[in-house]
Amino acid sequence: MPEKTIWSEDGRVFLLDQTLLPSQRKVIEITTAGEMWQAIRALRVRGAPAIGIAAAYGVWLAVKNASDFDSIPVRQLIENACSYLATARPTAVNLFWALDRIRRLADEYGEMPGEKLKRLILDEAERMVAEDNAVCLAIGQHGAKLLKSGDRVLTHCNAGGLATAQYGTALAVVYCAVEHDGKQIEVFADETRPLLQGSRLTAWELMQAKIPVTLICDNMAGSVMRRGWVNAVIVGTDRVARNGDFANKIGTYGVAVLAREHNVPFYVAAPLSSIDVSIPDGDRIPIEERDPEEIVQMMGTQLAPPGVRVFNPAFDVTPHDLVTAFITEKGVIYPPYDRTIPELFDAPMAANA
Ligand code: MRU
Repeated sequence: MPEKTIWSEDGRVFLLDQTLLPSQRKVIEITTAGEMWQAIRALRVRGAPAIGIAAAYGVWLAVKNASDFDSIPVRQLIENACSYLATARPTAVNLFWALDRIRRLADEYGEMPGEKLKRLILDEAERMVAEDNAVCLAIGQHGAKLLKSGDRVLTHCNAGGLATAQYGTALAVVYCAVEHDGKQIEVFADETRPLLQGSRLTAWELMQAKIPVTLICDNMAGSVMRRGWVNAVIVGTDRVARNGDFANKIGTYGVAVLAREHNVPFYVAAPLSSIDVSIPDGDRIPIEERDPEEIVQMMGTQLAPPGVRVFNPAFDVTPHDLVTAFITEKGVIYPPYDRTIPELFDAPMAANA
């Protein structure tokens, strides 16, 4: 099983620095909300569920480091930290979901002495880690039923353990199919330009787990599908709208179109914390645009003429009609998503998860 990506020990917060993988496996301590903001922005911690947890720990660090609750009331401090951390990245709704949970705590227990409220925030962040593990394992178990032994799965970006507290969403399906159900599954990992989460992270974590993985460049996905080598595509998501349109790492839309063309089922692993029922469709999902340098340079090497005009969106939106099913912790749902997605929020956890 994959390793932990973000956690606390005795009130100190640690994360595995994902910008250094695969050449270096280094755990760093994050000591302030500012450092957490930077870590999220710089993708030291990344993937929608993981950045939600990171933001919650960021608020904890802000209140932990404040000693004088007389000059600024703790509720105000929490609100300031939440507003600040919310600016780290715009697309993954998990970030806002996690901060709203902390805000609700502050609303409910705001009259408590500052020290007690501090402790509640740490407890809440730690609860998010435990819940994330349970949610990912449930996604894995539901999704594993969609795969049969011998299947080859194509994935884009990294929706593995590294993108969550530990177990992943899209890759939890693969881990469960292999480790729990004993199926033989192979994975094609798109390298995922520009920042190579597929080659640096997905290939790394699957190799650690001894699951056969073949790395391909993004522009090879159509070719491997055309050869009949892909039985299913499974990706993660940063935000799903109420109608099932969803945002994921740039390039996902193209993979979905290719899957439709080649009759390959296209699944999206989505914890409920990644579903934003407040927006009707994908046009309302804010798409992060990142520094052009991420495209024109790689590891200090210039790849394009200096000064070239660049468009660098970190995510794209895939329309719901290209999605065969969503795999959630409450089970697998099928179209019509404008009905089945809202229903999820009233449904109990499925008994077999
Ligand atoms: O920019 P990143 O690396 O944070 O993008 C991550 C993705 O696109 C993942 O697929 C998504 O967050 C789902 S993670 C379970």
